[in-house]
Amino acid sequence: MAKAKTVYSCTQCGSQFPKWTGQCQDCGDWNTLEEEAAPQKSSLSSSPKAARFEGFAPKANVQKLQKVSLKGTPRFPSGLIELDRVLGGGLVPGSVILLGGDPGIGKSTLILQSLALLSDTKNTLYVTGEESAEQIALRATRLGVQDCDLSLLADNQLESILEVSLEHKPEVLVIDSIQTLYTETLQSAPGSVAQVRETASRLVRFGKQTQTIVILVGHVTKEGALAGPRVLEHMVDTVLYFEGEQNSTFRLIRAIKNRFGAVNEIGVFAMTDMGLKEVSNPSAMFIKRAQEDATGSVVLVSQEGTRPLLVEVQSLVDQSSLANPRRVTVGLDNQRLAMLLAVVNRHAGFSLYDQDVFVNVIGGVKVHEPAADLAILLSVLSSFKNRRLDSDLAVFGEVGLTGEIRPVQRGLDRIKEVEKLGFRRLIMPKGNQSGVKSSKLEIVSVNTLEEAIRYAFD
Ligand code: TYD
Ligand code: MG
Repeated sequence: MAKAKTVYSCTQCGSQFPKWTGQCQDCGDWNTLEEEAAPQKSSLSSSPKAARFEGFAPKANVQKLQKVSLKGTPRFPSGLIELDRVLGGGLVPGSVILLGGDPGIGKSTLILQSLALLSDTKNTLYVTGEESAEQIALRATRLGVQDCDLSLLADNQLESILEVSLEHKPEVLVIDSIQTLYTETLQSAPGSVAQVRETASRLVRFGKQTQTIVILVGHVTKEGALAGPRVLEHMVDTVLYFEGEQNSTFRLIRAIKNRFGAVNEIGVFAMTDMGLKEVSNPSAMFIKRAQEDATGSVVLVSQEGTRPLLVEVQSLVDQSSLANPRRVTVGLDNQRLAMLLAVVNRHAGFSLYDQDVFVNVIGGVKVHEPAADLAILLSVLSSFKNRRLDSDLAVFGEVGLTGEIRPVQRGLDRIKEVEKLGFRRLIMPKGNQSGVKSSKLEIVSVNTLEEAIRYAFD
């Protein structure tokens, strides 16, 4: 008998090799090659109906760009405003969305709540490969949406799912999750690179050809990336991550890639015993301070997508007993902190070389924009000098290497948010001052780090 052929696929980039090696020769990642059965030559599906469908590939015509008719991207709301915000305004027919997140974070809950609302007006199909129909019904009862018009299919075989979908003609098709699907044309186990790649690509093709919105729920690896081949992210139109601390009730949904809208937009939810509740004013939530006027705490005005977001940064600076004092950040870039500490040493005369510095953004928020610089430094100095900053003070501004405070994007939006939340004082870059007319707020615009420090602590 002929030996079964196997290949080795990289779990990161999907490249295939005849032999195992410790490092993928394509993407350079280590220990990512996994053995799987080689795909058979003809990958025609077993279901005649699905096969007929997949064989159908209309011939495309060359057309002039200016002649392409625009019907306007007809979006429709997903039922959840916060989800629509991340999607760039709603669901686009024919688009494929990948929703990733840690186990237990609430992906299935989010999907069920959205579909329950959508099913009033749209034909929806929820394919569950992980849970039984009873388990979904149980969750629906808990969420109070069991009376909705949603169709369920508990299955994980791709060909039969495609066949049912062709008959049922859903406008929104959800697969929960892509790692549980398998196709009969491959012998490898569900969740393997080859299976995920093949099932996803056939679902993408199905979505595009029938103008169905396909939402794929995906698992993440322990490093936090979507499990399965990297190519998965290239295949789909939109990649969303659902994140949040396991022990906090807040959940953020974030777009990593979006062909139909802006990325870095976030949607905010709170997990309650009645499912996910939308949080339309997240700033108020992230700055609920336990201790008023604690040292090391500063409110920073950040920006997430088109929305300004006020968050609290906390620092702790403490005498170090190590030769290399620690610089630990949560929700911030470590390298950026090191750079800021160098700036504060050179241009403001505070040397922290013998101090451990810990900086944390409260609420599991991640801030990756330079506009956070000034607030981070003031928070570090507040802890170092053991001097509290006023609780009605907010801060934004980028710190340059020469100690200057540089203007940031969307200054006016940030100022408005600060006003809206009842802060009374704001330290910001002078360069952001044009066009500002504010009545209630005391705005201190600064050109240098020194000025900012003088104002904050004097
Ligand atoms: P789930 O949607 O099953 O997560 P995922 O599909 O991402 O794995 O969410 C499960 C968690 O959510 C579970 O730990 C319980 C919690 N939960 C609530 O707190 N309230 C609720 O109303 C529901 C339905 C779930
Ligand atoms: Mg789930």
